[in-house]
Amino acid sequence: MLWTHLRLEAMRTPRSPPLTWVVVVACCVLAGPPQSGASPKKTSCRVQDGRADCSHLSLRAIPPNLPRNISSLDMSHNRLVGIPPAPLNLYPGLLRLDVSYNSVTKLDGHLCQTLPLLQTLSVAHNEVHLLKREDLSHCTGLVLLNMASNRLKLQGEPFSALKNLKSLDVSMNKLASAQLSSQPQLPSLVNLNLAFNDFTALKKDDFSFLDNSSFLQLLNLSAVSLKTLEPGCLRPISGLRTLIMDGSNMGILVLFKLCTELSRTAIDALSLRKMKLVTLTNTTFTGLQRANLTFLDLSHNGMGKIEEGSFQWLSRLQTLILADNNLKHLTKGTFQGLKALKELQLTKALVKSHTSSTPIIDDFSFEPLSALESLSLRQTSVREITGHTFTGMTSLKELDMSWSSYTSLRIITKQTLVSLAGSPLVKLNLTGTAITQINPGSFACMRNLTTLLLDFNFIQQTLTGKEFEGLGEVQELHMTNNHWKVRLSSTSFVNVPNLRVLTLGKSLNNTALNVDVDPSPFKPLCNLTFLDLSNNNIANIRGSVLEGLVNLKVLKLQHNNLARLWKSANPGGPVLFLKGAPNLVTLQMDSNGLDEIPEGALRGLSSLWELSLATNLLNNLRYSVFDDLKSLRVLRLQKNLITSVNPEVFKTPMSNLSLLVMDKNPFDCTCESILWFVTWLNNTNTTFVPDLGDQYICNTPLAYYNHSIMDFETLSCKDMTPFQALYILTSTTVMAVIVTALLVRFQGWRIQFYWNILISRTLGFSDANIDEGRHFEYDAYIIHAEEDSRWVERMMVPLENENCRFYLEDRDAVPGVALLESIIDNMRRSRKILFVVTERLLKDPWCRRFKAHQALHQVIEASRDSVVLVFLQDVHDYKLSRSLYLRRGMLRRCCIVEWHGGHKERVAAFHQKLLIALGMTNRLME
Ligand SMILES: *[C@@H]1O[C@H](CO)[C@@H](O)[C@H](O)[C@H]1NC(C)=O
Ligand SMILES: *[C@@H]1O[C@H](CO)[C@@H](O)[C@H](O)[C@H]1NC(C)=O
Ligand SMILES: *[C@@H]1O[C@H](CO)[C@@H](O)[C@H](O)[C@H]1NC(C)=O
Ligand SMILES: *[C@@H]1O[C@H](CO)[C@@H](O)[C@H](O)[C@H]1NC(C)=O
Ligand SMILES: *[C@@H]1O[C@H](CO)[C@@H](O)[C@H](O)[C@H]1NC(C)=O
Ligand SMILES: *[C@@H]1O[C@H](CO)[C@@H](O)[C@H](O)[C@H]1NC(C)=O
Ligand SMILES: *[C@@H]1O[C@H](CO)[C@@H](O)[C@H](O)[C@H]1NC(C)=O
Repeated sequence: MLWTHLRLEAMRTPRSPPLTWVVVVACCVLAGPPQSGASPKKTSCRVQDGRADCSHLSLRAIPPNLPRNISSLDMSHNRLVGIPPAPLNLYPGLLRLDVSYNSVTKLDGHLCQTLPLLQTLSVAHNEVHLLKREDLSHCTGLVLLNMASNRLKLQGEPFSALKNLKSLDVSMNKLASAQLSSQPQLPSLVNLNLAFNDFTALKKDDFSFLDNSSFLQLLNLSAVSLKTLEPGCLRPISGLRTLIMDGSNMGILVLFKLCTELSRTAIDALSLRKMKLVTLTNTTFTGLQRANLTFLDLSHNGMGKIEEGSFQWLSRLQTLILADNNLKHLTKGTFQGLKALKELQLTKALVKSHTSSTPIIDDFSFEPLSALESLSLRQTSVREITGHTFTGMTSLKELDMSWSSYTSLRIITKQTLVSLAGSPLVKLNLTGTAITQINPGSFACMRNLTTLLLDFNFIQQTLTGKEFEGLGEVQELHMTNNHWKVRLSSTSFVNVPNLRVLTLGKSLNNTALNVDVDPSPFKPLCNLTFLDLSNNNIANIRGSVLEGLVNLKVLKLQHNNLARLWKSANPGGPVLFLKGAPNLVTLQMDSNGLDEIPEGALRGLSSLWELSLATNLLNNLRYSVFDDLKSLRVLRLQKNLITSVNPEVFKTPMSNLSLLVMDKNPFDCTCESILWFVTWLNNTNTTFVPDLGDQYICNTPLAYYNHSIMDFETLSCKDMTPFQALYILTSTTVMAVIVTALLVRFQGWRIQFYWNILISRTLGFSDANIDEGRHFEYDAYIIHAEEDSRWVERMMVPLENENCRFYLEDRDAVPGVALLESIIDNMRRSRKILFVVTERLLKDPWCRRFKAHQALHQVIEASRDSVVLVFLQDVHDYKLSRSLYLRRGMLRRCCIVEWHGGHKERVAAFHQKLLIALGMTNRLME
């Protein structure tokens, strides 16, 4: 049946008849595959796979310079006036020759002699007039001959030699008779095209030349306005299976006669389009009662009335096409007798115009159609649907009422479609039927339904779930384009748990998925693979909205307002709603105002194949946001604000791409931003990048502004390499200098100090031998400010005994000895030098100038613990170093003793510490 349909479509002659199907097929074969791209106008023949295309070249002769072994030559649309055999001598292997659309006036009898293998010859749209027997007498191998649209005048028996011809087209030749010959011939003929000729009668013997053509199956008589049919005129072609009468203006009586003649044929498919058949009577098809017609096309007839019983004769009919008519009333009798009918097309067959009333379908009108599986009422208009409109269609699987206007469908209730209860309906198409409301249980009777289409309506309600009661088998629910009035609840889809496809694009109120809808309406849909939520201006969804959708493959979220959810500044952090759908294959989030992709937003999407983020505001993408997209093949990022394409972001997603669309971004054409990308583009041969030449434009820097990124000089980056090394070297040096300077500034004393110690040590001294090799008269040389002598007397002097002696300047200096000498000598004689540090001491010029120098000398030359500092006050290290050239850090910790006041226990502790500092604990113990 389908085959018949296709065959009919192919055979049909178009209304304005320039080409018959033979030409179409021949041209397709001859022309070869369409040339890719917008190639400039052809200036010479193209040769490919043994086919030479020399069409549209204004040629006046067959070109002599083609490969000799070509099998097909297309010379159509040139200026040939004949087909002289001589030039064709060069191409003896030709199987196909097309010289249509030239000015050929005559066929040459030697043509087929020159081309002994020729099978297909098209001479359509030329000016061939006389056609004689000799012209084709050698063409016995010819299988297809197209002579459409010439001025044929047949002389003698021109076709008598064509023993193998299967297809003959002589349409549009103003032939005055269908009789192409008086002798039986063309024994292999299958298709005969006589359309658009001038004859109006079929005489008894017209087809007698086909007496032996037992294979003839298809006869095209389009636009032949038959007036007379002699009985038995079709007898010679009783094997006929397909007859095309489109556009023939024959009237109902001649049609009746035609059907009678067809009754003795094997007719299977009959096309009666555009024949201005205004009515059908209950006898029109009587003749077909004995035939086995399975396909009847009555479309485009402006038919207003079909009498009851008109089709009663067609009990084997399987397909009836009544599209584009003007029927006013279908009754119980209209389809009476069509008990084998499987497909009925009533598309635009029942229409309302301003001059006519709304058509009516009576109750039980479809009852006779018990075998009907598919009914199309697309673009029809009917007054109402009652409880019995569709009753009796016990095999109906598909009902298409799309773009129809039925007032009963405005508000669908339990009763509206109850007449379909007896049908095992699988697909119901209610697209564009102005539905505003669906009440509970509206589809409850459709237990077998798998596909429900509700796109382009005005549904305006909160889906509670009751609307879809009984639809446990439904796998596809389409509800796009419902004017943003649909709201959802947690139970919206509880009754359709088998759903695979759910489309809600351009339908949801923008608050439909707000956080208060919890749990998510999609939660029951664990088998969902396709979800369309696009164009809804949704700004707010829960992170768990897709929870449990482990089978979801396609998610469409474009044209919403999800930017805020992915901002890192979003209160509570970015909402990573994709985590519920880890097996996504296609994700579309174009036009969402996105300026950020948070870390982890695309985590785990290792099956993702297509990612579309076009028309957003993306600029600096975080490193590794795309790192899990290991299967990506298609990436769309056009029209964003992307300036740089770095490997840190794009290396992984681009490693396997077959399509990249990233045009119209403001690229920054500098080495850092674009070098990697340009190199990648230049090296990739597996990724298709459309418009690379003219839509990938540099925005910065000025030097490249408005140039293609492919103009970027990658070499300029390579030249930079030595400079880069130099740069790194100099910057390191500068850094080192700065660090050293800072170190010296703040820790220089320490460096210098330890350096000095190191020097003196290497010259041979050490703490130990100093102690051993010298004899000390005093245990400590005490230096203090004059004002602190009372404290010294009270706290230090009492420690003296026969084992411990201090040198105190005021007390022990021998009068008469020079002061400087005395200091140096006595310091040498003391094991330690003890400073009693107060602010007052630091101001004492003696101390600062001389004693301190001497002490420092001692420290460096002798040992680090030859100096002891006793702090009576907290003195800043800085001041200490300014006046005494000493710092706390230069001395061992034990050599610094602090005085904390005169409490009894504290004094004891102080003394203990002091003796440790002086290295005298042992002696004290004794
Ligand atoms: C055709 O219809 C007429 C009335 O319109 C009726 O008298 C006649 O019996 C019908 N013929 C057939 C074959 O149904
Ligand atoms: C119609 O089909 C039946 C059974 O398929 C067959 O017996 C009969 O000969 C066919 N009639 C014609 C006219 O081909
Ligand atoms: C439903 O009808 C619409 C409009 O006529 C059509 O485009 C669509 O293909 C139909 N859908 C199905 C699944 O038949
Ligand atoms: C329709 O569903 C019923 C059970 O609900 C089943 O028995 C029947 O076979 C189904 N019909 C078709 C055509 O699938
Ligand atoms: C999901 O699909 C599987 C297999 O196709 C099926 O067995 C299962 O019942 C479906 N789950 C639901 C909730 O319908
Ligand atoms: C969405 O629903 C809310 C509350 O139900 C309503 O205020 C708002 O107008 C609706 N929006 C649209 C576009 O209908
Ligand atoms: C592109 O590749 C070709 C060869 O693979 C090389 O000659 C050319 O310099 C490259 N151009 C750029 C801009 O990298």
